[in-house]
Amino acid sequence: MGRPLVFAHRGSSYDLPEHTLAAYLRALDEGADGVECDVRLTRDGHLVCVHDRRLDRTSNGHGPVSTRTLAELERLDFGSWHPGPPLADGDEGVDESYLRLLTLDRLLEAVRTAGRPVRLLIETKHPSRYGRHVERRLVTLLDRHGLTVPRPDHPLQVTVMSFSLLAVRRLRALAPALPTVLLLDRLPRGLRPSRLPFGIQIAGPGLALVRSHPTLVPALRAAGNQVYVWTVNDPSDLDLVLAMGVDGIITDRPAPTLTRLHG
Ligand code: G3P
Ligand code: CA
Repeated sequence: MGRPLVFAHRGSSYDLPEHTLAAYLRALDEGADGVECDVRLTRDGHLVCVHDRRLDRTSNGHGPVSTRTLAELERLDFGSWHPGPPLADGDEGVDESYLRLLTLDRLLEAVRTAGRPVRLLIETKHPSRYGRHVERRLVTLLDRHGLTVPRPDHPLQVTVMSFSLLAVRRLRALAPALPTVLLLDRLPRGLRPSRLPFGIQIAGPGLALVRSHPTLVPALRAAGNQVYVWTVNDPSDLDLVLAMGVDGIITDRPAPTLTRLHG
């Protein structure tokens, strides 16, 4: 492909509530090459797609995600906080896919059955009270879906990422064939762009870091690494990262991003 991959950040999360099935189905309809999600463990050990440690911003619940069971979370409304118009579902009211918690298991199924090859970026969120169990549960789930060893003929390609170097190291140990991204919101002391640690081959710097260190992306790429940048929503930011030759663009707005790339 002659252009960078476009990943929908938490789904098409500018238009629809982040991490809902509706936001992911919209991103797939819009032609995103892949989608991004954050995962956390519930009290009873299920991986759910929620960004914040607490429920308060994106649902009508309160307190940490990690202290709730899946059944408790499934009773909450994860859509009504969003300013966009709710998806109507005929006489039934608002479409459930707009409102309900999404499990990673369900997202894997939705992406796998998209009818075309799709990439999925899964970010494990830390710190977590469950520590290494987050990566353990993730690898167990991916294994169940046959996704820990990438196969070119499989319609779903999974890449796992984290800001936590420890988490990425655990992933490298648990599933060495899985591609991994080391997310960067600042430059860790001792990081050498010429050689990412633990055999990691993709760096995921944020826009602020890319702007403050203009030589970072070229140095990473010159050393043979790939670079996925987040979160690229504005046209001027898109121009900047395109000029740097990044390999992946993580955006809340896949449709206008793709239009501009094809334009
Ligand atoms: O894709 C990376 C990006 O999502 C990291 O930041 O806070 O949106 O998870 P955050
Ligand atoms: Ca994320």
